[in-house]
Amino acid sequence: MGVYSKPALFALLSVVLILVGTFVTTILPIYLPTTQPVSSYIKPYTAVELEGRDIYIREGCNNCHTQTVRPLRTEVARYGEYSKPEEFAYDRPHLWGSRRTGPDLARVGGKYPDSWHYQHLYDPASISPVSNMPAYGWLAGRRLDTGYTFRKVSVLGYGYTRQEVEQQIAAYMERVTAPDYAARDVRNRVTPPELRDTLTEMDALVAYLQKLGRDVKELEKSRRAAMLDKTIGMSEVR
Ligand code: HEC
Repeated sequence: MGVYSKPALFALLSVVLILVGTFVTTILPIYLPTTQPVSSYIKPYTAVELEGRDIYIREGCNNCHTQTVRPLRTEVARYGEYSKPEEFAYDRPHLWGSRRTGPDLARVGGKYPDSWHYQHLYDPASISPVSNMPAYGWLAGRRLDTGYTFRKVSVLGYGYTRQEVEQQIAAYMERVTAPDYAARDVRNRVTPPELRDTLTEMDALVAYLQKLGRDVKELEKSRRAAMLDKTIGMSEVR
């Protein structure tokens, strides 16, 4: 009969077995580098993009929008290259979502100019008449609070110094308030006069939206260029 006739020993051995299983399948992988793919082409968010991401979470955009392109032909045709694990290395928490009232946003960065986003966030129906996306114009009436930005990027381990964070915020502010900013007209239209010279929550949200999928798109572009070089090189040989 062996171990089956000894209930106490049996229970003890079962617990040990389950603990070993838990350790091997759950705890160990957390520390294995192969389960945490990091690619040099995926860059962490800048301070302003991270603030935009927090606004995205606060407003619950992820209740209507997913951020993951599944490896299915129809999805790739609609949104672009499917999502890779390493793309989420800096996402805490991830925003994959499970509901698509609106389209997936994993590849929205660079799809439209900034001006499109200001107009769309201000009044989605002005761009897409049947849209049931709520208007977020009031985000342009709120100054971006950067009081905790440095603490946030530190907790997330992005490795920026306080000075770098301040520089990133100042640089983005300079960009959107510059006289030659391409989205200047629409930004001025949706932003109250007293906030036009500073960063608003809408500015940060637009910065974040433009970052989504950008690294992957740039990788694809460089790969295409490399392939083209190769083809040209071959024709020269011939
Ligand atoms: C009630 C659901 C809902 C919520 C909440 C919502 N959206 Fe949308 N969103 C939609 C729908 C539907 C569309 C497609 C029609 C359109 O373009 O307005 C859309 C479209 C978009 C697009 C354009 C995507 C593309 O590829 O054309 C962006 C960008 C976007 N939403 C961002 C946001 C952001 C940022 C938030 C949060 C501040 C948000 N959405 C909240 C429903 C929603």
